[in-house]
Amino acid sequence: MKQIICRRFKLKISFLLVLGIFWGCSGPVNASEDGVVYQIIGPKISEESSTPSRWTLEQLEARAGSKEISSLYFDRALGYQGSRFRVISFAVLVNLFDAEGRSDAVLLNCFDDYQGILSIADIQRYDIQLATRIVIGPEFKKPDWLNPLLVIVPDNKRAPFQERYLTANIRELKFTRLKAYYAPLREAGGASSLTGYSAFKDNCLFCHSLMGIGGNKGIRLLESYDFSRRDGKNRFKKDFAAFHHKDNADKQNVEQFVSESQLEAIMDFLRLVNDFAINSMNQ
Ligand code: HEC
Repeated sequence: MKQIICRRFKLKISFLLVLGIFWGCSGPVNASEDGVVYQIIGPKISEESSTPSRWTLEQLEARAGSKEISSLYFDRALGYQGSRFRVISFAVLVNLFDAEGRSDAVLLNCFDDYQGILSIADIQRYDIQLATRIVIGPEFKKPDWLNPLLVIVPDNKRAPFQERYLTANIRELKFTRLKAYYAPLREAGGASSLTGYSAFKDNCLFCHSLMGIGGNKGIRLLESYDFSRRDGKNRFKKDFAAFHHKDNADKQNVEQFVSESQLEAIMDFLRLVNDFAINSMNQ
């Protein structure tokens, strides 16, 4: 009896092994522990976009090499202490997928409709890492969105303190070009209100899309506020302070990244974009 079970068990194992080898040959992806698969879309070579490749965290770690680090930048932004991360180097990943330098930025599409973007120059300058594992202290409550892949500024690098360097929950990395990506925004008002344009694209666009780019995690600001009126602007400031403050339950403290004058400039910029949108509709 015992022997029969053993034999059956052995048969099952060899069957699974053969199946595993079979699957292994059909692509780079095997089911990971938690079943999450991440997508990388390399640079455009001809008119057609390149085919996405699919990766588990284990495969990314094996391909790019991984290590464990901390990040004071992350801890400061989230109000945590002592967080630890297993990370892969974003620069190594860029070299693996775009050795010829066809792109100058990577778009970061997230599971929660957040859309981040980092220039390859910044990825190299600040030695940006991508966390594949996140460990925060048991005394802190992890918000839903705090999942791999997560952008991490390592401790010896001085990246500007902005929402831009905190993209989490990334499901897809897409190689792209900055100029083409931001073109609709630049055309709509970026040239006339540089401070507002920069502050908005470094801190807000990721969740509040505008002119068809950015994420949709937040509300549509142009539809909710009239930036040509004093009362519209006052309500915007009041709502911003009431939602994006340091005690925001979902850790969306964006207030820490923008000064009062930057917020004013953001409103000027949004007013320009709104006028542009209305004008182009009337043409
Ligand atoms: C991480 C994503 C995220 C970022 C980044 C972000 N927001 Fe938001 N924002 C939200 C969400 C989510 C809401 C809440 C929407 C709702 O009420 O359901 C919100 C709400 C708001 C509101 C309205 C608050 C209310 O009472 O409904 C304003 C104003 C606002 N954001 C402005 C900004 C500005 C300005 C920036 C950049 C300086 C910014 N947000 C950056 C996600 C974000």
